[in-house]
Amino acid sequence: MPAHFTHASLRRPDRLRLLALVTLLTTAGGCQNSQEPTTENRPFDVDATVASMTLEEKVGMTHANSAFTSGGVERLGIPELVMSDGPHGVRHEHTRYYDKATDAEDAGTYLPVGTALAATWNEELGYAFGEVLGRETAYRGKDVILGPGINIIRDPLNGRNFEYMTEDPFLNGRMAVGYIKGVQDQGVATSVKHFIANSLEYERRFVNVEMDERTFREIYLPGFKTAVQEGGALTVMAAYNKFRGDWSAESAFLLDDVLRGEFGYEGIVMSDWNAVHRTLPAARVSLDIEMGTDLSQEWNEPDYDAYFLADPVIAMVRDGALDESIIDAKVRRILTVMKRIHMFSGDRPAGAYNTPEHQAVARRIADESLVLLKNDGLLPLARDAVKRLAVIGANANRKHAGGGGSSQVKALYEVTALEGLRRLLGDGVEITFAPGYDIAPDATANEDLIASAVEAAGAADAVIYVGGLIHGYTDAWDDNAYDAEVLDKPDMMLPFGQDALIKAVLAANANTVIALQSGGPVDMRAWVSDTRAIVQAWYGGMEGGNALAAMLFGEVNPSGKLPMTFPARLADSPAHALASYPDEQLLIEHTEGLFVGYRYFDSYDVEPAFAFGHGLSYTQFAYADLSVESVDEGVEVRLTVTNTGDRAGAEVVQVYVHDNESSLKRPVQELKGFDKVELEPGASAELVIPLDKTAFEYYRPAKGPDEGGWLLEPGLFSVLVGSSSRDIRLRGEVEL
Ligand code: BGC
Repeated sequence: MPAHFTHASLRRPDRLRLLALVTLLTTAGGCQNSQEPTTENRPFDVDATVASMTLEEKVGMTHANSAFTSGGVERLGIPELVMSDGPHGVRHEHTRYYDKATDAEDAGTYLPVGTALAATWNEELGYAFGEVLGRETAYRGKDVILGPGINIIRDPLNGRNFEYMTEDPFLNGRMAVGYIKGVQDQGVATSVKHFIANSLEYERRFVNVEMDERTFREIYLPGFKTAVQEGGALTVMAAYNKFRGDWSAESAFLLDDVLRGEFGYEGIVMSDWNAVHRTLPAARVSLDIEMGTDLSQEWNEPDYDAYFLADPVIAMVRDGALDESIIDAKVRRILTVMKRIHMFSGDRPAGAYNTPEHQAVARRIADESLVLLKNDGLLPLARDAVKRLAVIGANANRKHAGGGGSSQVKALYEVTALEGLRRLLGDGVEITFAPGYDIAPDATANEDLIASAVEAAGAADAVIYVGGLIHGYTDAWDDNAYDAEVLDKPDMMLPFGQDALIKAVLAANANTVIALQSGGPVDMRAWVSDTRAIVQAWYGGMEGGNALAAMLFGEVNPSGKLPMTFPARLADSPAHALASYPDEQLLIEHTEGLFVGYRYFDSYDVEPAFAFGHGLSYTQFAYADLSVESVDEGVEVRLTVTNTGDRAGAEVVQVYVHDNESSLKRPVQELKGFDKVELEPGASAELVIPLDKTAFEYYRPAKGPDEGGWLLEPGLFSVLVGSSSRDIRLRGEVEL
């Protein structure tokens, strides 16, 4: 049921209007034309405006003036820039814009989390996700949504993996582009975060990340490069961590040389909240806005004028320690982005909120995100064969939207798995719910709860177990846990005694489906081989429960694929096998180098529990007629895919490249293309998947007098086409 309020009620009160702008343009000499322009191209003259500003006015724009705004200049009709988290919904009103009168009205659409979106491998859904988010952001009167989060998923323990997308740089870029365009087509800016290598939460404001140049170029940079160059992201958020000894928000290498210099990025760089540490280094590099708040998260307003990029900058310019032109350049970039998102013309699309269309998009993404990890024929469950169903696991009855840190969403509603099953099955099926475990700090196996769960399982025709992880015990930061900001997971084990519970339930009823909610892998060794069906359900957004129920009972044919490898145990993950968790020296050394995710498992021959790209369907697909042809732009891969089963379904066809011979060691295969195709039973489709030349290159680090750079080393390449990284169906070769 949509909230009934006009968007004006949640718009910030101080949005400055056209009249002020016209005054500005006349006084700044930027407007020769008094006609009413209607597009973003109206004659707002950025240079003339900057020239007319005092130093204080300019510096007022380069730092936060409340937890989610940076300063405007009323005299010149420049509004504040208003931001909101992000990344899978518009966060509730808090801090300065919290208003008790409208507090009940800021509950919006809760989309599936980042890993769930990536698991769809559907670029159109990336766009649809962004479109919903952008429309809701605009409606709520915000200018910037703080997402997408695209840090590479390197370590299963990272608390924020659920907000990110994948371990693979190519998939990362593809999903980010859709998201960014979807948002920005609504006249709202995205903020691609966190630049760069913020792949653990442990002491995130103080750790130093070290990695070799090739790893940096091949694994960690490509997602950001694609996001700014192809996605056209208008803002980038610099990470908390140090990179090679410099704070990310103060790094001339990251911001000036790579982002601006190499990528040609002209948008805004803002800091993560309180990620700036010093005035001169931050002012000198092309960081534009220092953001931050009261670190206690109690939303006390600190003295924003004392920020590093506030009064201290004014003093330094006056003293001659800093050239004012550096500040001008920052303000120019900020104003240019403001102009792009219609902040001066007032003609940003109004957006929309809580529409049935938005809920339908949340549902479609949830449907396509479900990954059927294992199925020996138990699924789909037949409605007429299940008269008594046991639903076991406290997660089945749990809402997740409000937890996890800054990505929390106040959801208009959230359909739990239990509710979804009840809705789908109606009165015809008797559903017994047994929580089976306590969700509480340090809770271990609870024998009484296990006994009730076993009883319910024994009396049922089928059991649906819904367990996994949580974002926290409550929605408070102090209670964050597992998949949450500011802290990492203690290990990869299921908490609250779930292994013992699952084993007992499986012994009581073999017709048990295990569905797991989590941002990534958990250790399943205790029971995986005794299980008939396993579903990875992520955190599926407001429609997650409906999607899961529909998939379990065959109304939706699963088509999600893992966007990350699921290791059998933590020690098998490259960040633990080849590197170590940071110690008190606060150094995160990526000693595994390029061998992140499947690049490690495949190159070092380690068996994963479930491979990157894996995901089953209720139908089967046959692959045939591969041709791999060299064309001007690169290589064209063609093949025919046929749905050979008796249900309609969608398949994600994945293209990996293997370099048959190279002078430097390369991962044995790397994802360079994919396509998702929907096919009716018996139907075939010819797919054409282009690979540009960069798909075959690797980065050769500088050696002696030779400069480093991307290199396409001529020779034979294998092109591997499959249904997962470990289920390659067709192989071809091409000489380049
Ligand atoms: C997070 C960012 C977030 C910001 C604002 C930081 O703690 O790392 O991702 O956008 O807070 O809430």
